[in-house]
Amino acid sequence: MQASACAKIILFGEHAVVYGKPAIAVPISSLKAVAEVEFNIVPDGLKIVAADLEQTIRSPASGEPLSENPLERTVQLVLNHFQAAPPNVTITIHSDIPIASGLGSGAAVSTALARAISLVLNRTWDNASLSEIIYQIEKLHHGTPSGIDNTVIVYQQPVYFIRTQPIQTFSIPRPFKLLIADTGKSALTRIAVGDVRQLYEADQPTIQKILDQIETLVIQARQAIETGAVADLGPLMTQNHALLGQLTVSSPELDMLARAALEAGALGAKLSGGGRGGNMIALVTADTAASVREKLLSAGAVRVFETNVE
Ligand code: PMV
Repeated sequence: MQASACAKIILFGEHAVVYGKPAIAVPISSLKAVAEVEFNIVPDGLKIVAADLEQTIRSPASGEPLSENPLERTVQLVLNHFQAAPPNVTITIHSDIPIASGLGSGAAVSTALARAISLVLNRTWDNASLSEIIYQIEKLHHGTPSGIDNTVIVYQQPVYFIRTQPIQTFSIPRPFKLLIADTGKSALTRIAVGDVRQLYEADQPTIQKILDQIETLVIQARQAIETGAVADLGPLMTQNHALLGQLTVSSPELDMLARAALEAGALGAKLSGGGRGGNMIALVTADTAASVREKLLSAGAVRVFETNVE
């Protein structure tokens, strides 16, 4: 018995989304966290083996205060939600989603685990409740997350996300191709978000102007996606990258990869997620994908994978 959750990528609007601006994110179904359930032969309680994180944990006793460990807290919140005792199973988690690189690995691992526990308990989730629990876990990773990661990963659909507003999912009439290139540098979203907050507090009018410009791009991007005007997305991505640079969340590596992608014929390129490291995305066509990928690798990307957004 197993459960899974996919990765995600933010196409537009990261950071600005923390300040109430819209952002667009899509699931990446080719990358997954998987939680596999085995029933224990002897009574042994609930054991979670997170092989990639080299962690083995046991379900905290009921009534214990909430743990600071994301996996333990996931177990606690899920069992509280279902008002259930820990089942006698071992859940092994594997993920092929790179950690700390803007692909939502933490949220995906917690989501897969929460889904696995519900399978064992023979209970079902409504997306809103599960998303709220994963949001609580995201707080451990990020401090003050906007909620976009848990939303897109739990709903597993493209989302136009505005904090505090009902979730808007939307469809993509004309699929498009992205390359996702990893700088190989992991960076903590929490730090980048905190630095933007400091900038905002030091000079609100200047930062507000940048956030407003990002908002305009996100609105235009949604329109381009929904009308199938895929080529229009490229310049919007590149402009969004420049504005993120003004918020100080780009890095020399991200700038270099974005430039390399454009030189090799990508229609647009930008960092994605918290920035300072992690991943960037490039909009390509079937004709340019191979040459852009090659250029990204020779410009220092440690890994490039292709995904169709559909
Ligand atoms: O680094 P990621 O992919 O988890 O994305 C963070 C996105 C931010 O907008 C920077 C923060 C947030 O909570 O939305």
